[in-house]
Amino acid sequence: MSSVLTQHQRVLSGMRPTGLLHLGHYHGVLKNWVNLQHEYECFFFVADWHALTTHYDDPRIIAESTNDMVIDWLAAGVSPGSSKIFIQSRVPEHAELHLLLSMITPLSWLERVPTYKDQQEALKEKDLATYGFLGYPLLQSADILVYKAGQVPVGEDQVAHVELTREVARRFNHIYGREPGFEEKAESAIKKMGKKDARLYRDLRKRYTEQGDQQALEVAKALLENQQNISLGDRERLFGFLEGAGKIILPEPQALLTPASKMPGLDGRKMSKSYRNTISLRESPDDISQKLRTMPTDTNRVRRTDPGDPDRCPVWQLHEVYSDDEKKQWVREGCTSAGIGCVDCKQPVIDAMVAELKPIRERAKDYLDDPSAVQAIIDEGSEAARDVARDTLDEIRKVMCLSR
Ligand code: TRP
Ligand code: SF4
Repeated sequence: MSSVLTQHQRVLSGMRPTGLLHLGHYHGVLKNWVNLQHEYECFFFVADWHALTTHYDDPRIIAESTNDMVIDWLAAGVSPGSSKIFIQSRVPEHAELHLLLSMITPLSWLERVPTYKDQQEALKEKDLATYGFLGYPLLQSADILVYKAGQVPVGEDQVAHVELTREVARRFNHIYGREPGFEEKAESAIKKMGKKDARLYRDLRKRYTEQGDQQALEVAKALLENQQNISLGDRERLFGFLEGAGKIILPEPQALLTPASKMPGLDGRKMSKSYRNTISLRESPDDISQKLRTMPTDTNRVRRTDPGDPDRCPVWQLHEVYSDDEKKQWVREGCTSAGIGCVDCKQPVIDAMVAELKPIRERAKDYLDDPSAVQAIIDEGSEAARDVARDTLDEIRKVMCLSR
């Protein structure tokens, strides 16, 4: 596996618009995005076509959620100055690449993606025996490859989709990366690096191809990454030449595994819309208090005078997220000795949540009051994304002999 250094420093991720975002999304995904945007060139998009694969009979909710989702991203700190924020269906190149990739993707690759059967099973009430749903992961591959993204932040459940993307990219490069005179072109590209680097490249390539020296491969990739004097095409050739293949047109992305969200819901299970145990990012302070005050505690603690056990209590799990050691100590001692009541115990969590969501709610309100500002951000992000996607498609059409 190649190191971060050698990967394209571009990050891409998407989210399906199927409802309001909640604290689980914030702690699990959005905080991560916000951090990534300082380090990488980031592309974040609303996967409305993906939502349509499962909600084709209820498209209104997709349209409504799309705008809300962008507002929630902005409110959480995703910045249009650092990231491209856009809507999948506004960049038709995703669909074109999906179609072209479908020509070389064996049916069996899609049928064996675990989410295919799992989701059909989980959403039994829907008919998901559709062409579109089978193609879901391939559309995702197109999303990633159209930007030649190197890093794809996703949860565990999406790793298989990134893996498929790697296989599809490899197959694509294998079929379309061969160009007439490839070796000669690679040789002349090597010379352009200058004597010293050319010698180093040749030496590293030899160590890799003859002795399978992985580290030499890494170093050679880093060397290419740092070349200032060669064209993009030559660089891709030399990446391909390193591993003996043809030109690398579509680089293989890596999954950047998002640590599983530890955000517990109001019932102690993972916070999730389907469990109806969520606090939305737009929740008012009153509603937060109300929801927290009525949430269950240790069921064995019936009366105020009964001692409780934090390990049997969902409120304790929220303290794990929001409280420092001192506060947690206070909870454990007070609970097990019946020194504090559950209402007292919940208050610091309520305060912390209200404080956490205050700036988010305020920013969301600003955007809700100014729909044209949101539109402008989406328009700009979609145009910028399209520029990149267009370039990739130009290149792809060329190697697939589709002229314009
Ligand atoms: N399938 C992803 C999910 O359900 C959403 C998604 C669509 C995505 N396209 C993507 C994520 C591309 C990362 C990269 O969460
Ligand atoms: Fe749960 Fe706190 Fe009540 Fe103990 S005191 S049962 S930890 S809410």
